[in-house]
Amino acid sequence: MEDFIVAIDGPAGSGKSSISKIVAKRCNLNHVDTGAMFRTITLEALNRNINLDDENEINFLDEIDIKFDGAKVLLNGKDVSVDIRQDIVSNNASKIAKIQKVRDKVLELEKNFHGRIIMDGRDIGTVVYPNANLKIFLTASAEQRALRRVKQNDELGIKSDYNAILEEIKQRDINDSTRKIAPLKCAEDAIKIDTTSLSIEEVCNKIVNLINER
Ligand code: DC
Repeated sequence: MEDFIVAIDGPAGSGKSSISKIVAKRCNLNHVDTGAMFRTITLEALNRNINLDDENEINFLDEIDIKFDGAKVLLNGKDVSVDIRQDIVSNNASKIAKIQKVRDKVLELEKNFHGRIIMDGRDIGTVVYPNANLKIFLTASAEQRALRRVKQNDELGIKSDYNAILEEIKQRDINDSTRKIAPLKCAEDAIKIDTTSLSIEEVCNKIVNLINER
């Protein structure tokens, strides 16, 4: 079967993951959350108590195996789906995501997926699948994204502070879009959707319509 790839990129909290999950179900696509891979590597680095600012200390990449089991993320067979959503992981992931060997490892994993896929991240339409069948770039104001993150955390039973999250989101935007390798940016041929005042359903409907047109 020929691959059919939908690339969804955008900043933290723009709704990429929630929207990709729903669209995947509606359009019979497999959802791949690439942020979860960077988060899993970050979690492992934190568990090892190493200095995340020192690339040389990230020397465990060959020892870890990251797999998806439905919506679950497995790190060497252990379910880390909840652990990777902790604020400490969110706040340190951008340090890990700018390291070349980390991106190479994740790229290798990303290239293993075939078939009908909706993959969300920061560089899917620009680096991972520049020939994707459809590229979407989701945006939203930082304030709206912070509100969403607080709500998402509430649902996971994780306590959070709006102002702190807003500052962290702004900092992550800077980190993700100014890094040298595979920075967050909208591909020239991507369709931009500002989700600030749209409901999840409205965004999903737009994307489902675009998929059906392909
Ligand atoms: O989307 P997220 O918040 O789960 O992403 C976690 C981190 O991984 C974030 O700092 C950006 C980074 N990331 C990336 O650099 N490239 C991707 N394709 C996906 C995520």
